[in-house]
Amino acid sequence: MSGMSVSVRARTDQLIRYGGEFADLLVERAQGSWLETADGRRILDFTSGQMCATLGHGHPAILDAMRDAGERVVHLFSGFLSRDVTELARELMAVLPEPLARAMFLSTGGEANEAALRLAKLHSGGHEVLAFAGSWHGMTAGAVSSTYSAGRRGYGPAMPGTMALPTPNAYRCPIAHCRDRCDLACLDAGMALADAQSVGAPAAVIAEPILSVGGIVPLPEGYLQRLAQHCRERGMLLILDEAQTALGRVGTMFAFEQHGVVPDILTLSKTLGGGLPLSATVTTEAIEEDAAAKGFLHFTSHVSDPLPAAVGRAVIATVLAEELPRRAHELGARLRAGLDELGRRHEAVGDVRGQGLMLGVDVVRDRETRAPADRYGAAVTARCLELGLNVNIVHFPGLGSVLRIAPPLTIAPEEIDLGLEIIDRALTDAQSS
Ligand SMILES: Cc1ncc(COP(=O)(O)O)c(C=O)c1O
Repeated sequence: MSGMSVSVRARTDQLIRYGGEFADLLVERAQGSWLETADGRRILDFTSGQMCATLGHGHPAILDAMRDAGERVVHLFSGFLSRDVTELARELMAVLPEPLARAMFLSTGGEANEAALRLAKLHSGGHEVLAFAGSWHGMTAGAVSSTYSAGRRGYGPAMPGTMALPTPNAYRCPIAHCRDRCDLACLDAGMALADAQSVGAPAAVIAEPILSVGGIVPLPEGYLQRLAQHCRERGMLLILDEAQTALGRVGTMFAFEQHGVVPDILTLSKTLGGGLPLSATVTTEAIEEDAAAKGFLHFTSHVSDPLPAAVGRAVIATVLAEELPRRAHELGARLRAGLDELGRRHEAVGDVRGQGLMLGVDVVRDRETRAPADRYGAAVTARCLELGLNVNIVHFPGLGSVLRIAPPLTIAPEEIDLGLEIIDRALTDAQSS
């Protein structure tokens, strides 16, 4: 600590609060699945940072790539290319199915979705975009217009033509029709409503294969295939936003592989950079050719930046070399078994859902009515943090109160068990708070 006095709390009086109050701690370093605070506390990170650090914190492959790229080239004029960018595109296509064939590299998830929406609008000639009522696609103007889970009030009009589809959460059926098994009635009802509102300018549907902020809701069996069919019938493009699910987290390289559907446009972000700002918009040759012919413009300061691209290459290589999809599948089964076991002992555990190492625990006041336990859920995460575990909670009206559990895919089995022990204790302790 070099003799300097170190504040153990973050000084916040000169910061804009962009998402409520800041956590009352100051992180000094992060390594593997652990964070260390200025006052020496160790915190097990069950959110992989902001769901990005799937390789864990400080992975040597990422640090080496940063160091190496830093010594060669960090940033360029946006019309210039470096080898890391062209190689990243090649390496990405090697793990993606046809007809996905062309990519552009940006910085954030919101930006990648923005580019996807602009591509879809230019290609289709329409502007109507459907997204789930529980969606989160980012904070840039187009992406936020298709984000319904939060942040809509107070910022003026959303993009004209944006419409919401019911979130197919079988535990909390959005049309009070199913219980525990979605028969896709909400999808057909949602598309019929969109048709009624349409001014005849359909462009795209944008969807997360597992809604994250929407309460860890995996799309039900058959849903994506039916959605793709609805899109085809209307001349809409299907955009899948795999910000959180891509590159191994759900037990396969990409979540869409589990649904037998290839999107027209795929966006990758968080997990592609492993903690650095890197995102990708990927599409087919036909769509890219058409958009280019129409003068597609999405020129940003950091498009095709070499350093993040080098890191993206290191991330993909590590995901493959360390077989992280298989690890996520196996460790996910261990984590899920542990959460199911907690469900047998804690009445408040209403539902455990998700895939691989992206799991959610829906906490309820009553298992029959499934009334969300908002205050209790918040108390559980606060107690977890006191006990040394970082677990996130999402709660919005209609979506429930859901603990989001997504540790790094490199986590050790014993660390999963330790996290489960802490959640167990927090579920008990929070009852008295
Ligand atoms: C599914 C999904 N898409 C897009 C975004 C936006 O990404 P970013 O915050 O990098 O703009 C997020 C962020 O949480 C996300 O979860």
